[in-house]
Amino acid sequence: MNQKHTLLAETNHPFMSEKPYILGTHQTELERLGFQHRVWAADAAKLWQRAHVQRGMHVLDLGSGPGFATFDLAELVNSDGSVTALDISEAFVDYGNQQAKARGYDHVTFIQGSVNELQLAPNQFDAIYCRWVLSWVTGVKSIIAELAKLLKPGGVLMIQEYAQWGTFRITPEINAVRTMIEACRESWRVMPSEIDIAPHLPKMFVENNLSIEHKAPLERVSSPDELTWQWPGTFLHIYSEQLIEMGLLSREEQQAFFDAWPKLEADPSAMIITPFMMEFIARKK
Ligand SMILES: C[S@@+](CC[C@H](N)C(=O)[O-])C[C@H]1O[C@@H](n2cnc3c(N)ncnc32)[C@H](O)[C@@H]1O
Repeated sequence: MNQKHTLLAETNHPFMSEKPYILGTHQTELERLGFQHRVWAADAAKLWQRAHVQRGMHVLDLGSGPGFATFDLAELVNSDGSVTALDISEAFVDYGNQQAKARGYDHVTFIQGSVNELQLAPNQFDAIYCRWVLSWVTGVKSIIAELAKLLKPGGVLMIQEYAQWGTFRITPEINAVRTMIEACRESWRVMPSEIDIAPHLPKMFVENNLSIEHKAPLERVSSPDELTWQWPGTFLHIYSEQLIEMGLLSREEQQAFFDAWPKLEADPSAMIITPFMMEFIARKK
């Protein structure tokens, strides 16, 4: 499959054309994804339970990354079922397959490929899970149409994506942090993908014979002493390098953010309001 066919390759942005994924696929990002999964794992598990994902099912984890959700799904479906994890990143796919081998999970397979060129047989999955992927790619309408084909009749599509990233706030408001968040927003604007993809999905479900069984908001408000606080924190630290490359943040502004962060963390009144996400369960008729 064509590894170059990626979100960033499609942007033609001089700084983005070589990277398979906005935040890179290096060790720090791998660890960040692991941490991010710890923060949101319970919400994912609740969604799967609500969708009746169970032992013996065949599941696709679309844009799986290194497989943090994949392995939780693998435990749920057990070795009577299977999980196919698809991601564009060779590094993540290799890592996932190594992990599967180390755990003796013969029913888990990571394959490298693009969500825009799904080369999978139709009518084979009981469930498809997709989290934090559709916000970063183009052609979402065609992707949903393809996913509907991959599901067996009665199969279920489970999605958790951003609905309104602009709701992200860190208080008390500090200039250096505000500048950083504004630079992030600007970076979403110059990308061809639609970060706030969630509200567009219900129409696509209905157009593809998928009935909407569940829709709900996903958001958190957290203080520095809570796990969720670290989630946007690690994201902003990693993404600041990308923002500098894109010319949307200066080194001085990055440093001002790094200096401000520990002060915020020491402030018991500080609060993070996470970017507003939504989750869906849509079932093939
Ligand atoms: C934010 S991570 C989410 C990973 C995983 N879904 C999770 O919840 O932990 C986004 C993932 O999408 C993958 N990705 C980006 N563009 C892709 C594409 N066109 N096709 C397949 N995967 C893609 C990236 O490599 C990355 O692993």
